[in-house]
Amino acid sequence: MLDESRRKEILEHGSLTKPWGGEPMLGNWYTEEEIEAVVSAIRSAMSSMDGFGFLSGAIAEFEQKFAEYCGTQYAVSITSAGVGLDMAVIALDLEPGDEVISPAINFKGAHYSILGYGGTLVLCEADPRTLNADPSDVEKRITPRTRAILATHMNGLSAPMDDYLEIAERHPHPKYGPPKVIGDAARSCGGGYKGGKIGKKGWMTVFSFHTMKLMTTLGEGGMLTTDDPQLVQRLRGLRQWGMEMPGDLETDSDKPGTRDPRWGTNYKMTTIQAAVGLVQLRRLDDMIAPRVKLARERTEMLKDIPELTLPYEPPECDHAYYLYNILVPREWAGQKRDRLMKILKEDYGVNTVVANAPTYQQGYPFIADHTIGQRLPISEEIGARLFCPPMHPQMPEEDNEYICAAIAEAVEQIKVGE
Ligand SMILES: Cc1ncc(COP(=O)(O)O)c(C=O)c1O
Repeated sequence: MLDESRRKEILEHGSLTKPWGGEPMLGNWYTEEEIEAVVSAIRSAMSSMDGFGFLSGAIAEFEQKFAEYCGTQYAVSITSAGVGLDMAVIALDLEPGDEVISPAINFKGAHYSILGYGGTLVLCEADPRTLNADPSDVEKRITPRTRAILATHMNGLSAPMDDYLEIAERHPHPKYGPPKVIGDAARSCGGGYKGGKIGKKGWMTVFSFHTMKLMTTLGEGGMLTTDDPQLVQRLRGLRQWGMEMPGDLETDSDKPGTRDPRWGTNYKMTTIQAAVGLVQLRRLDDMIAPRVKLARERTEMLKDIPELTLPYEPPECDHAYYLYNILVPREWAGQKRDRLMKILKEDYGVNTVVANAPTYQQGYPFIADHTIGQRLPISEEIGARLFCPPMHPQMPEEDNEYICAAIAEAVEQIKVGE
């Protein structure tokens, strides 16, 4: 708790030690180990017989270590989570009219993939406490045409995957059985659920190693996890011209029986990214721990401000705190929330983001045009009440305290103006 005199003192005499993006451009940090991994990967490619390989060496090792981390049978490395979401939808082999349920409060990627690869996007509401798809609303929207539930693990917190799986079991598709449950864990790599890691539950999970994420592979990169041997064959085929190439990945493409007759292309990550990914994965838990510490200290400092609804940590989840979600009161939705964000930025240099409003309100005509007539009032209200202040594992405690003081002061200013 920050009392008024402490708040004033911090704001009068303090400032941020450095600017923080609302969603910082580098979500973690690199050490000499990553730099050495890059140099050494380049050095080991200096042979005309080896070059950077295809899917050998560091890539195979990264996949194996990532699968072990998530407790899955398989992991398939790819160029980005955007591509991973496309692959997930392609692998569903949708027929015209097939529906995929996905929460409106979301990053646009899942919805682009569903709409881009032949699905009918059925939006569902989010639970305001977690921002994750609300299972009871998912159940309301399931029909005999539902082929999948594509849920995002929002902002570091696992979605309730077991609830979706149970719902899917209760509503099997007449031809394909229970709808597939797919997780988008782009923002939640390293988060936990029911004693395990995100990535284990459901048909498959998509991860991102984009520059802003919890672990990164030089700006872009992604991974898919699954326990399904047929699906992994399909995913590997999509990633590399129909070639499955498990195990020793270098030469299997020449062996008979390893070619998938279906369409594929090139979605491979580079050896250098994988070499960096191996180091980042080893460091992942240690990079999440400071986020959790900062988030809990932040909650402690803000918890007595009745106007703010702070992040909820369900007991079965280990939050990775990619972002720290705050909701303002209903009556402040929209304009007053916007004013609060403006005060934070202009008066105190504290950047914030709204992650996220419903995708159809984010200014992407492709999604808006394909969801005409779908309106999600709970999600719209969340989108108008939400703001996320900066969160980064290297943020000093004094910056966290300054941000909290600025938030408390901005709330006071909004109240005075009421
Ligand atoms: C929830 C979510 N899904 C997917 C993506 C896309 O990830 P990538 O940049 O690796 O394509 C992002 C990226 O911001 C994201 O936040």
